[in-house]
Amino acid sequence: MQTTYFELLGEENIRMLVDRFYDLVFEHEQIAHLFKTDKEEIKEKQRLFLTQFLGGPPLYSEKHGHPQLRARHMPHVITEDDAVAWLSCMAKALGTLPIDETLKDALFKRFVPTAMFMVNSGENTP
Ligand code: HEM
Repeated sequence: MQTTYFELLGEENIRMLVDRFYDLVFEHEQIAHLFKTDKEEIKEKQRLFLTQFLGGPPLYSEKHGHPQLRARHMPHVITEDDAVAWLSCMAKALGTLPIDETLKDALFKRFVPTAMFMVNSGENTP
């Protein structure tokens, strides 16, 4: 069987990634205003989601049902600039992890299409 990103990264790094990522998001001038719920709550949801997104056990689905990520983002107006800001926070957070640069790059590439798919407002809306 193929090794998953979840296995390569490990639970501790996922926890660190999510922690650092939302600390950056909640401070980001472009997208902070979109996040209105508790920071710890969204961190926990994202930890469960990324575990499954990266090939680990389906923790998010077990607790919250099918991710339907685009639908879940629809209540929020998300532009291409917002997606770029989200990705820049992710790149920074990945940059702080004690893992190979090649793994950081591979993970970042995994996030790009998903972030672009969340865009639901503006000229280039899918
Ligand atoms: C493109 C830029 C994105 C923006 C601006 C954005 C924004 C948001 C916002 C505002 C929420 C609600 C937070 C709250 O409850 O306060 C949310 C939830 C969430 N986002 Fe994103 N998001 C983006 C991309 C992504 C991507 C790429 C992923 C996954 C790789 C993701 C995964 C999630 C998850 C798992 C939740 C929790 C859903 C739930 O159970 O309610 N988001 N996002």
